[in-house]
Amino acid sequence: MKIDTFTLFPEAFSWFQSQRHVQNAVGAGLELGYVNYRDTTTLSGNVVDDTPFGGGAGMVLRVDVVEWALRARYGSDPADPPSERRVIALTPGGRFLDDALVDELAAEPALTLLCGRYEGFDERILEHFCTDRVSIGRYVLAGGELAAMVLADAVIRKLPGSLGHHESALEESYSAALEGAPEYPHYTRPAEYRGWSVPDVLLSGHHARISEWRRQESRRRGQNDPLS
Ligand SMILES: C[S@@+](CC[C@H](N)C(=O)[O-])C[C@H]1O[C@@H](n2cnc3c(N)ncnc32)[C@H](O)[C@@H]1O
Repeated sequence: MKIDTFTLFPEAFSWFQSQRHVQNAVGAGLELGYVNYRDTTTLSGNVVDDTPFGGGAGMVLRVDVVEWALRARYGSDPADPPSERRVIALTPGGRFLDDALVDELAAEPALTLLCGRYEGFDERILEHFCTDRVSIGRYVLAGGELAAMVLADAVIRKLPGSLGHHESALEESYSAALEGAPEYPHYTRPAEYRGWSVPDVLLSGHHARISEWRRQESRRRGQNDPLS
């Protein structure tokens, strides 16, 4: 898989790139690229945004600036994106990122993530260059970088070779294996702490009963989940 992120702040991703699961995925063939909109703008002073038509606060990321950046990277008209690439704008009003969407994106060969800043994107960027609009929640961040990292992190964890052999993305909160419910509780040593004890079943060594208890706990949490 290839993931390209377009941003005004590529340096924001250096911590993310250094994470072990990301490095593992890169070792297994993942390609990560970062493109700064400023590197290809031809406007004087490397300008990338402008004031909104109709007035109002803030600056809007320009459609021509985003076209130049996409053309420079892919050598083609961004209004005609190739079918093998999902071009995703991170935007608060987009489709909510959930495990089903993460699964869908993890199966794609290539993703392009567009980060906005300031007041956001000129609407024509979303209409003509993007296949998807994705939101990470009903709140507003200062920029798309954290949202892009959230999306990329969730997708990369699903790629073969990303997680160590003792970890698994199969039986986790909201996965199909748990019927879309949150994960069951975990405990580790000490078995007794300040009078707070671990459920007996987990200490029983009885794998079938442990598995059944975990399913029940997961379902119970799902019934109490306000979003399910
Ligand atoms: C300050 S926000 C713009 C908010 C926009 N004016 C609005 O009210 O919807 C700047 C950028 O941050 C990113 N962003 C902010 N909140 C987000 C969220 N919840 N999900 C995804 N991206 C978000 C988007 O890329 C957005 O263009």
